Amino acid sequence: MPTDSTTLALEAGLDPARIPAHIAIIMDGNGRWARAQGKERLEGHWEGYRTLKNTVYAADALGVRYLTAYGFSSENWVRPEYEVDGLMNLMLRAMQAEIEELIESGVRVRVSGRLHELPPDLRAEFESAMERTTHLHRMTFNLAINYGGRAEVVDSVRHIAEMALRGEITPDDIDERMISAHLYSPHIPDPDLLVRTAGELRLSNFLLWETAYSEIYVTPTCWPDFDRDHLIAAIADYQRRVRKFGAVVE
Ligand code: FPP
Repeated sequence: MPTDSTTLALEAGLDPARIPAHIAIIMDGNGRWARAQGKERLEGHWEGYRTLKNTVYAADALGVRYLTAYGFSSENWVRPEYEVDGLMNLMLRAMQAEIEELIESGVRVRVSGRLHELPPDLRAEFESAMERTTHLHRMTFNLAINYGGRAEVVDSVRHIAEMALRGEITPDDIDERMISAHLYSPHIPDPDLLVRTAGELRLSNFLLWETAYSEIYVTPTCWPDFDRDHLIAAIADYQRRVRKFGAVVE
């Protein structure tokens, strides 16, 4: 519905023609938020789920076409067992609770990461969500789960090496386009804007290849407190940037 998102963007003080097509988010600060409230860390993650849901629909309404959220990194397995189990349970319950509304809203679900290492019920839920939404094109919601940016490049290179072993390509055929084409979600364009909440100034192994030219926006706000106004502030900041991609812009 381009008219709707145009109107909403204008009302929010944004340029509808320069809404970032793809926003990627490092949803940090659930634990700090919980501690500040005297709550358990897992309660912070459950609040983070509510924020994520609101953010998906707020971004969609403003005309964002792709939203990638870092839900669980390949390094998060070292957290205490109760937190890892709690996050797996949260993701399963969230996917079960949200899938019908996502479908009704025309949202395509993708999950990027080493899914074969996830608990079988969660993996099956993600695979079903991807299959059931594969025909939807209004917005793509991409969840990075058991995701690592370095692992993603390794997995891409392994596929390419297998092609070389089969004699389908030679080393000279390998270029940036081929590595991109074998990443987890090759049909999703690189993020225009990377948002990180809770103030840390690092990438934490998120989309290392894809963010080569992304604009980075860091807010001190912890993820559970991130709302539509924060999203609009991030997009407004993005719209003030000059993207040069290495060129000279007069
Ligand atoms: C980082 O905060 C957050 C995570 C590791 C988990 C993010 C997960 C959610 C927001 C739930 C998402 C729901 C779905 C359906 C994917 P942290 O725990 O590192 O916070 P801290 O740095 O303050 O301790």
